[in-house]
Amino acid sequence: MYAYATHIDRLDDLAAAVDHIVYRHVATRILPEQYPLIGEKLLQAMKDVLQDAATDEVIAAWGEAYDALATLFIQKEQAIYQQEDQALTERLVRTNNASLLS
Ligand code: HEM
Repeated sequence: MYAYATHIDRLDDLAAAVDHIVYRHVATRILPEQYPLIGEKLLQAMKDVLQDAATDEVIAAWGEAYDALATLFIQKEQAIYQQEDQALTERLVRTNNASLLS
């Protein structure tokens, strides 16, 4: 999140890092519905650490940044899950066809 914030004007620089995280998330089967809880915990941790410095404005800005990044991850991860589903379905169809023909 910090790297994202510090590179906010140069998101292209982050593309490789994003792809790497997406790859790790897909490998561990992270799902879209897990993002809100992690976001909530992140903001709570920031409030705990920053205390008075965590004004509503600061927290709202981090919340927006998290949501934008989460949306990007969710989209990229969903695209890979769909490709995997498609590949699996095609393999099953091929296997079924082959066994029907034999
Ligand atoms: C915008 C939100 C998120 C960010 C910025 C983020 C960032 C990261 C990063 C930097 C890594 C380390 C990648 C590596 O170098 O191996 C990672 C791994 C991981 N993340 Fe996330 N993450 C996010 C959301 C989530 C959510 C919602 C979950 C669900 C509980 C999650 C679960 C994991 C797990 C289990 C790993 C370890 C995967 C492995 O075994 O290598 N992350 N994440």
